Amino acid sequence: MYKITTADKFLWEGISLDGKLVLEGGTSWGNTTDLIAEKISANGWKTRLISVDVDESHFAEVEERLRDKFHELILRKADLSNLDFISQNSVDVIICNYTLSSVNQFPFRAIKALKEFYRILKPGGKLLITEEMPIWAVESRDYEYWSKRLRIIKSISVLKAMAHFNEIHPQDLEEVMSTLGFKDILRQEFKEIIDAEMATKFLDKRKQTLIKGQDDLQNEHLTKGFVELTEKLVEAFENAKEFSAPAYIIKADK
Ligand SMILES: C[S@@+](CC[C@H](N)C(=O)[O-])C[C@H]1O[C@@H](n2cnc3c(N)ncnc32)[C@H](O)[C@@H]1O
Repeated sequence: MYKITTADKFLWEGISLDGKLVLEGGTSWGNTTDLIAEKISANGWKTRLISVDVDESHFAEVEERLRDKFHELILRKADLSNLDFISQNSVDVIICNYTLSSVNQFPFRAIKALKEFYRILKPGGKLLITEEMPIWAVESRDYEYWSKRLRIIKSISVLKAMAHFNEIHPQDLEEVMSTLGFKDILRQEFKEIIDAEMATKFLDKRKQTLIKGQDDLQNEHLTKGFVELTEKLVEAFENAKEFSAPAYIIKADK
């Protein structure tokens, strides 16, 4: 979704995708698909990738851009909590970046997705997850833009009765993964760098949702307040170009 700088070294340490079947959770614009393709090209690996998203709107452009990089590339519209088209013990590596918090907009669905990840992984297969920290677990002063942006987006979503992403604390995620049977769980926290232009686009989209449907809230002060907050932050983003966000990677084996 954004131009993100990950903790690349930790993420890829000990991972080879050569001759492997890989599942990517959450294709979106294909940022992580690009990252996987780069690794494959740099290492001369032959990799089959199944990339899954509930929203297929970017599949055509991702396929066009990356088809030739993979031994086989399958883009599949599906919910990660139900991967019944993939047989058990068949996948070598699962890479799920910035997607579990989105699956988690519906309570328990992230647990169902993790259960599916466990089922389809081969014994010894690897699960790599990257996520942002929950907003409540971080000192907002240290991540001013990130914190304000998330609070505005989530508040507008709540006001409009829309589901919104729910970040998972790494300790909770580790406990659930361990309960499901994952072992050798490793974690690293890091600061990611987010491109301000992309971040602004999403913020503006939420503002438009609020403005368009302002009648159903029947309070113009509320709408005006959020529009003002959003526009001030967009102005600040324009000067900042990029901003940092607290994130973590969790790696585990089946
Ligand atoms: C933040 S984007 C993913 C970003 C991408 N992986 C990256 O690294 O830049 C989250 C994606 O998860 C998808 N998504 C949300 N819930 C899902 C679910 N239950 N099953 C599959 N995809 C889901 C959304 O459609 C969205 O494209």
